[in-house]
Amino acid sequence: MSEDFLPVKGYDHIEFYVGNAKQAAHFYDKTFGFTPVAKMGLETGNRQKASYVMQQGKVRFVLSSAYGPDHEIARHCALHGDGVKAIALEVNDVEKSIREAKSRGATVFLPASPQEDEHGTFVTGEIRYAGDTIFRFVERKNYRGSFAPGYQPINAHGSESVGFAAIDHVVTNVYLGEMNYWAKWYEEVLGFTNLAHFTDKDISTEYSALMSKVMESGKGKCKFPINEPAEGKKKSQIEEYLDYYYGQGVQHIALNTANIYDTVVELRNRDIDFLRIPDTYYDYMKDRVGDVGEDWGKLQELGILLDKDDDGYLLQIFTAPVQDRPTLFYEVIQRHGSKGFGIGNFKALFVSIEEEQALRGNL
Ligand code: FE2
Repeated sequence: MSEDFLPVKGYDHIEFYVGNAKQAAHFYDKTFGFTPVAKMGLETGNRQKASYVMQQGKVRFVLSSAYGPDHEIARHCALHGDGVKAIALEVNDVEKSIREAKSRGATVFLPASPQEDEHGTFVTGEIRYAGDTIFRFVERKNYRGSFAPGYQPINAHGSESVGFAAIDHVVTNVYLGEMNYWAKWYEEVLGFTNLAHFTDKDISTEYSALMSKVMESGKGKCKFPINEPAEGKKKSQIEEYLDYYYGQGVQHIALNTANIYDTVVELRNRDIDFLRIPDTYYDYMKDRVGDVGEDWGKLQELGILLDKDDDGYLLQIFTAPVQDRPTLFYEVIQRHGSKGFGIGNFKALFVSIEEEQALRGNL
């Protein structure tokens, strides 16, 4: 196997550009169970933007808003609505990562930029990805602060965790015909490999379909499925996203839990909406996966999906979009051996997504 020219240690954080970071932070705290751990803004001397760092397990989200209309964040929000701006990966050496990516065709958005404070040196660098989304490389091996220079720690309790432990995968929607371009981009620019490929025959209903390729980092620490719409009779879920996001971008983020039942009960108690799954799905599921020792009644009651492959099985559930535009949503996932993404569930998922789409008049 060839040398891994861009070794990735794992996800560092996801940064969202939002219209009102203060209110978004409240949402991620009170409903999703994140704890605010650091902040920057007017109080810390930043007159351009406010950012809140929210943490749960190893999952770290940064929510950012602009103080004025000419800021990049304001323009991003005007076009895309609230959404993911940066997927940040921790690496050992940002300067080398940017150099390697650039020599392989990456467009550099921010060259390696060291920042220093009393806690040490923190380095970031950024390259362009699909649409206005970027990949950010973060080097924190010589940094001891809570998050990054410019941020002040927050001593807040936050509400009770719902059990999110880590980011499992991050999915991007791209335009029709561009999935292979981006898969090749991951291979050539980041040195990632293709883990799986699903065609429209795997993932289709009468009305809409998608094709998907899953790319993963050298050590399998980070996984990035890429979806493109496939021809269907009506507008597909991917096209709806592309229309409302006004471009390509992150469709969903999957978060791991060690107990999906507890996590989903807690989220439902906090008024998070999940996709409704047709009851017939559960009759079909028993035939499809056989007995794996899970409580069927409980799965059905909570709307949790189950899929099985040669390595084991997984449990997953999808939230409704978390903003008015039908764009970004979340997946909660618990793995029991399976390294897959719930391919057997895609069809059932589409049926229920299309029900929701029809209600919005977009099918
Ligand atoms: Fe997923």
